[in-house]
Amino acid sequence: MTTTSTVSTAGAAYWEPLWSEGRRYRQLDDTENQLMEEHLGPGRARPALDIGCGDGALARRLAQLGYRTTGIDCSPSAVALAAARDTRPGHAVWQCMDITTDDLSALPEPAYAVITCRLVYRWIDDKPAFLDRVRRLLAPGGTLWVVTEVAGRRATTDPAIPRPGITPAEAETLTAGWSIARTADLDVLRCYALRP
Ligand SMILES: C[S@@+](CC[C@H](N)C(=O)[O-])C[C@H]1O[C@@H](n2cnc3c(N)ncnc32)[C@H](O)[C@@H]1O
Repeated sequence: MTTTSTVSTAGAAYWEPLWSEGRRYRQLDDTENQLMEEHLGPGRARPALDIGCGDGALARRLAQLGYRTTGIDCSPSAVALAAARDTRPGHAVWQCMDITTDDLSALPEPAYAVITCRLVYRWIDDKPAFLDRVRRLLAPGGTLWVVTEVAGRRATTDPAIPRPGITPAEAETLTAGWSIARTADLDVLRCYALRP
């Protein structure tokens, strides 16, 4: 049976209590890092933005690859954790920001060669509006890297978890209108490399 969740997972009101109570999410592993690096390439001091950075692991990886990295998250506790785990001051910029509502001109750069968004797209309420905002931030020739759970891949689904992965229609919304859309599967996750 499919049920439609009415729980809003849109911003800090949902995420801040989870982070401050110690909730943590799937860790990056070598396979996922390698896939990302194959699709994004070396940083060469180009700007990168990680949306919904959480504890900052992916943004730190981008910084290690040589990207001039900014990590943003709507949860102040997540941003504080990301900054605390950043052992190389000046390595990355950490900013508390809601990508769906806040003024994008508050970001350090007007445009990014790489934008990453891991385990976040699924939770965004208005996905077309979110994608419009992200496209505005992507530099010409840039890449949007999205990692998201796909609905129906888990053997069991906890009914307490809203939105168990993106639907085919939400995947279509994500991939429509890009000149290049590459995908790679990683168990319950799908990775998308999207170029304007
Ligand atoms: C499931 S966690 C994933 C965290 C991290 N990307 C990772 O892979 O571990 C989703 C993250 O997205 C953030 N988030 C959700 N909606 C957001 C929004 N509108 N603006 C900024 N961050 C958001 C949450 O605070 C949370 O840290």
